[in-house]
Amino acid sequence: MRLIFLGPPGAGKGTQSSRICDEYNLKVLSTGDILRKNRDTGTILGEKARDYMQRGELVPDDLIIDMIKLELKNFSDEDGFILDGFPRTVAQAEALDKLLIEMNSTLDSVLVLDVPNESIIQRISGRRMCRTCGRSFHNVNNPPPPGPECERGICDLFQRIDDTEATVKNRLAVYQKQTHPLVAYYEKTGLAYHVDGFGSMDDVYDRIKSALNKINS
Ligand code: AP5
Repeated sequence: MRLIFLGPPGAGKGTQSSRICDEYNLKVLSTGDILRKNRDTGTILGEKARDYMQRGELVPDDLIIDMIKLELKNFSDEDGFILDGFPRTVAQAEALDKLLIEMNSTLDSVLVLDVPNESIIQRISGRRMCRTCGRSFHNVNNPPPPGPECERGICDLFQRIDDTEATVKNRLAVYQKQTHPLVAYYEKTGLAYHVDGFGSMDDVYDRIKSALNKINS
C-alpha cells in the first residue's frame, strides 16, 4: 500500500502512521521528522529550514522536493509506504505525481484526517516528545510510561519549539491557505478518503483500518 496521510497540525498523522506502519509492514516517511533531524544535526538543509519551522511556515518547495527525491530513492519497488506531512502544497503534489510516474508507481489512497480546531489546540499544547526513542506522547491523552524508563533507555521529554500557542495558530492558518487545497486536488483524482480523526486514538485507528480494508477490497 502507498498512502498519504493528510491533515492539519496535530491531527494525529504521526501517531496513527507509526501504528499503521507496524501493523501493515509499511515504511513511513515523515517530512517533519526528517527536517527536525537535519535541523538538530546542523546540516545545510536543516539550517535553511530552521527559521521557517520555528515560525510555523512551510519550508520552500524546492528544498522539500529535493529532499523527497533523495528519500524515495531508498525505497524498493516492493516497499509500501505512508507519506506523513508531504505533500503540503499543490506544487509538491504535482512533483510527487511526476516522481511516482518515474518510479512506475501509484498511490492507493490519500487519507484525510478531519479534526476540529479546538481538539487540535488541546492535542498540540499537551504533546511531549521523547529525545531517546523519538515517540510522541500527550500529557493527558497518551502519557509517557511511568518512571524514567522509555523503550530505548532513559526517557527525555521535551516540548517541540513550534508547539507554542502563537506558532500553532500560524501553522493552522498556513494549513488552511497552502495545504487544505490538496483535499480538493485529491478528491478530483478519486484518491481522497475522509476519516473522522476526532475521538480516542484507538477509535481513530480502528476507523483508519476499516478505511484501508475498504480501499483494498
Ligand atoms: P510536521 O512535524 O509534519 O508537523 P505538522 O504537520 O504540523 O504535524 P504534527 O507533527 O504537529 O501533528 P500530527 O498530525 O503528526 O499529530 P501527532 O500524531 O503528533 O512539520 C513541522 C514543520 O516542518 C512544519 O511546520 C514545516 O515548517 C516543516 N515541514 C514539514 N513538512 C513540510 C513540507 N512537506 N513542506 C514544507 N514544510 C514542511 O499528535 C499530536 C498530539 O496529539 C500528540 O501529543 C498525540 O499524542 C495526541 N493525539 C494524537 N491523536 C490523538 C487522539 N485521537 N486523541 C487525543 N490525542 C491525540
